[in-house]
Amino acid sequence: MIKVGLAGLGFMGGTHAQCHAALPNAELAAVADPEQDRREKFAEQYGAKPYASLEEMLQADIDMVDITMPTYLHKDAVVAAAAAGKHILCEKPMALNPAECDEMIAAVEKAGVKFMVAHVIRFWPEYAVIKEILDSGRLGKVKWASASRISPPPTWAWNQWIFDPKHSGGAVLDLHIHDLDFLAWILGKPKVVSAAGVKTKTGGLDTVLTTMTGHESGAVSYAEGCLEMAEGQPFTMALRLNLEGGSIEFNSRLSPSLLVAPAGGGVEHPHVPQPEVPSSGSAGASGNISDLGGYFVEVKYFVDCLEAGETPDKVTPQEAKLAVELCLAATRSAETGQPVSL
Ligand SMILES: NC(=O)c1ccc[n+]([C@@H]2O[C@H](COP(=O)([O-])OP(=O)(O)OC[C@H]3O[C@@H](n4cnc5c(N)ncnc54)[C@H](O)[C@@H]3O)[C@@H](O)[C@H]2O)c1
Repeated sequence: MIKVGLAGLGFMGGTHAQCHAALPNAELAAVADPEQDRREKFAEQYGAKPYASLEEMLQADIDMVDITMPTYLHKDAVVAAAAAGKHILCEKPMALNPAECDEMIAAVEKAGVKFMVAHVIRFWPEYAVIKEILDSGRLGKVKWASASRISPPPTWAWNQWIFDPKHSGGAVLDLHIHDLDFLAWILGKPKVVSAAGVKTKTGGLDTVLTTMTGHESGAVSYAEGCLEMAEGQPFTMALRLNLEGGSIEFNSRLSPSLLVAPAGGGVEHPHVPQPEVPSSGSAGASGNISDLGGYFVEVKYFVDCLEAGETPDKVTPQEAKLAVELCLAATRSAETGQPVSL
């Protein structure tokens, strides 16, 4: 049984708590948040011990810390958890800049603890099926890929931290990172990043359009991200790929959401396996586990790795750092109007 301490009890904290509660091999033993009402609510709902700070929670009998705190707190939280000898799952983005990522990597290496950044799209059922199709080679090499992620503003954010680019990195680090990370994962590191963006009055790029060229696979890619759509616009994520042997399209608002068109003709809708609730789980998990999508698959993967004594390798710290570097390159390019070479 893996004893979990969860730090940061907002939107993502609530999501991760449901995942841990549904796992038969995890126990949500402790929760931390400076907001008393939040930690007491979680403590009551999940039977966890409440703490007013991460530092106090690190003294508890826990095996791992799950960090779902605002982005600007990730670096110090990971360094502190590593020093306390706890394994660490940390929400994306890893940190605000590569220097912070390096400090985190040094801290977890020194402590010898297991560490994964929660790049959930790598675990999301449709994206996972697309990765399997690419790895199978049956449609050949990717020629180009185009990704999209659009959302109304996340108005729930604690103290509005997300609207301060110094705290969140704006939509580039908060939202667009999902697609830049996935594109670099399937196509390899790009050589050049070119971007354009639209700033909001907070100074952050809350709309960004990025082209990446010179991917190791030879493909080119494009991604758009927007965190300021009108309230009535549903959150939408999409991915299109054109390959030597056909094309693939995913759109979260289509049903079926995934389409494969082989070059020889015809249309396929591959089966997309949805996460299942382990039979002995579901204590405290509310709603349908399928609604948790890739979050459940991701949290289960990390907990299972810990239980098996294995090092999680689906998202390495270096890959998570590269995702931050790609975001900062996109930001610099959008601000200067010049392409950025990596
Ligand atoms: N993977 C995804 O799809 C996804 C989606 C949303 C957010 N995120 C990421 O998750 C992280 C959290 O985002 P959110 O939307 O849940 O934020 P949120 O504002 O909803 O919640 C943040 C919580 O952290 C708490 N907090 C503040 N300071 C703290 C401290 N020192 N110690 C412990 N807790 C503290 C706040 O009280 C609040 O409860 C961010 O890094 C964000 O980028 C990821």
